[in-house]
Amino acid sequence: MRIRVSADGPSSAKVDLAACFAYDGDRKPSGLVDRALERELARQMKAENFLGRAGDLLIWNTDGRSQLCRHLVVGLGRRRDTPGEAIRSGCARAAKEASRFSARSLGLCLPDESRSSAEVEVRAAIEGALLGAYQFDRHLTDPTRRNVPLESIELTAGPASAKLKRVATLGQLGAEAVCLARDLVNEAPSRMTPQVMSRIAAKHAKSAGLSCKILGPAELRKIGMTALLAVSRGTREPPRVVHLTYRPSRRKPVARIVLIGKGVTFDSGGLNLKPGEYMLTMKSDMAGAAAVLATMTALGHVGCSVEVHALLGLVENMTGAGAYKPGDILDTFAGKTVEVGNTDAEGRLVLCDLLAYAEKKLKPSRIVDVATLTGACVVALGTQASGLFTRHEKLRDELLDAGAAAGEKIWPLPMYEEYLQLLQKGPADLRNVAGRWGGGITAALFLGEFLSRELPWAHLDIAGPAFTETELPEAAIGATGSAVLTLTRWLENL
Ligand code: BES
Ligand code: MN
Ligand code: ZN
Repeated sequence: MRIRVSADGPSSAKVDLAACFAYDGDRKPSGLVDRALERELARQMKAENFLGRAGDLLIWNTDGRSQLCRHLVVGLGRRRDTPGEAIRSGCARAAKEASRFSARSLGLCLPDESRSSAEVEVRAAIEGALLGAYQFDRHLTDPTRRNVPLESIELTAGPASAKLKRVATLGQLGAEAVCLARDLVNEAPSRMTPQVMSRIAAKHAKSAGLSCKILGPAELRKIGMTALLAVSRGTREPPRVVHLTYRPSRRKPVARIVLIGKGVTFDSGGLNLKPGEYMLTMKSDMAGAAAVLATMTALGHVGCSVEVHALLGLVENMTGAGAYKPGDILDTFAGKTVEVGNTDAEGRLVLCDLLAYAEKKLKPSRIVDVATLTGACVVALGTQASGLFTRHEKLRDELLDAGAAAGEKIWPLPMYEEYLQLLQKGPADLRNVAGRWGGGITAALFLGEFLSRELPWAHLDIAGPAFTETELPEAAIGATGSAVLTLTRWLENL
């Protein structure tokens, strides 16, 4: 993808489709340099009663009256408090129109308002355009069903500076990472097994300059990741734990961070089998691991001042003859015993071993885990927001800020100490399920039992936003790449 940031209007750059923007109530598009074009588009807006609401689109076919044959005005809705948000969605919509018209080049003329916080808005614009253009088409054999790929973006955003070019590159690297996560999640579950995903991780680690270690069943047994191994007993697919490391090249790292991703490449529920309609999207149960891997590749290219380790817990949860059973009592890496109340609460069994291993072996200053962990979190927050669980106020604020800057919805949920009792029943130290209520909270409390209380740790439950069953401005139906932009920004800011 070629990206150019410049000060001239879209009419002077020869693009297949030129987009500009209007806020709710605006009578003309904002930011155009070409006054004649501005007048013409204003007339079109009036004629079509175009109001600039979010999602409204106006297409003007110039029939040769302008150098360009096609102009697009995108409604941005009301002006928002968070810079970048409206522009990210608006540019995503513009990119979708570009693919509808088979445009290979897209002009984006940012509104005047964007010029004051140009760095934030340029980055958001590039992110939005690349995310809107995403399509998972590798299995479509009919070429007419595949979009013409977008090849270049001409961004008009005031005088081009080194700073603006830098943020445009950051936007591109972030969006490409999101698209990598989407590709991994969208792939069919029998094609994206733990083995396959670990090989892909190794390949990306290499090109991003990360070190990569892959642990198979024998090593995992030796290390004592018994709970993780129990989940993978019902399948022929051998489990993998991928350990990626980023080390700052120039300075001594100021801290050590561990990111942990749930990578259940398919969650059938195990012997507590899921009903068919719930199972259909369960290839997405490795979205946490995909997000962590994608974040690490972006990090390798962008760089940051902290040492970052990533642990991906890759397993398949199936019902084979060796499958773990309800009532089984498992040992864990940490030494605590766990009774399996439900084989469908497998994510926490994978994560509990990785969390304890991370604390003991890597001695991190902070841990963040990302997981499609509970349906309960989706009931609480809906399909567009992630739940954030942490006892550490500073870490909470940092992640909430990073989420806001990334345009991802994250909402804090509590870890009430009283609910821990719900897990402390039966013949083992803990059960992997509590009752029906507060399922997102009890899952987080379960994880917390495998770390010492002093260690700053946050758990991000992305079960809702990881996969979308309706079209969104920034995402097509399917995987969204949720959490990648948030984690990338968080690490960058440390
Ligand atoms: N992977 C699911 C959670 C999930 C649900 C992710 C919906 C995305 C969309 C997880 O492994 C699971 O099955 N959780 C159970 C836990 C229960 C058995 C305590 C759930 O949420 O129903
Ligand atoms: Mn499950
Ligand atoms: Zn699961």
